[in-house]
Amino acid sequence: MNVAPRPPVKLGVLISGEGTNLQTIIDAIACGDLRAEIRLVISNKASAGGLERARRHGISAATIDHRGFANRRAFDRALVEALQSHEVELVVCAGFMRLLSPVMIDAFRGRIMNIHPALCPAFPGVDAVRQALAYGVRFTGCSVFFVAEGVDDGPLIIQAVVPVFQDDDEAALAARIHAEEHRIYPLAIRLYQEGRLEIDGRIVRIRDHQPATDLGSLVNPRPD
Ligand code: GRF
Repeated sequence: MNVAPRPPVKLGVLISGEGTNLQTIIDAIACGDLRAEIRLVISNKASAGGLERARRHGISAATIDHRGFANRRAFDRALVEALQSHEVELVVCAGFMRLLSPVMIDAFRGRIMNIHPALCPAFPGVDAVRQALAYGVRFTGCSVFFVAEGVDDGPLIIQAVVPVFQDDDEAALAARIHAEEHRIYPLAIRLYQEGRLEIDGRIVRIRDHQPATDLGSLVNPRPD
């Protein structure tokens, strides 16, 4: 039986900064790896480099400055309105430095993704890379999850592991984590577009998924 491919998923991307994750999503769409359409990019900061990236690619890009609102809920109501008026199905937070209130979470329950530069639930909040270095972990990484109430805490979709090396400084480690983010974010969105993600409480099940049994386990540092 031939199953017709699902239509492209309509995305709204929320950013606050450079937007390199936004760029990988744009690239994945352009090369056909991801069936999606970015309907709108919103930044809470007018200076975010990601706005310019979006415009260069002909994508609608808007600033909604959180400082113009009395509180988080009022700001979120403006976000919901903009996203809904662009018929956004899936909200992708890509370096969006604002905590979402129940106003956003309820409007898009199970339809908001975020990415965090650590292996959740480790090192939530800002400075995740610095926290990992200060703690002395041998592995860190990045996580894509569905946003729920709480900071960097929600059902996990995909994680990538990154080793921490003795001589790493924050910039070096952050760069290696970033590279992994760019691999896993488009993949998580693709699984969503294909209708393969099923949220069951804290757990995300992936339909028609063959677990990789050849991953092995990682040891860092390797014994001499
Ligand atoms: C990423 O490290 C992401 O994990 C965090 O913010 C950063 C955004 O980077 N939430 P960019 O703006 O996509 O380059």
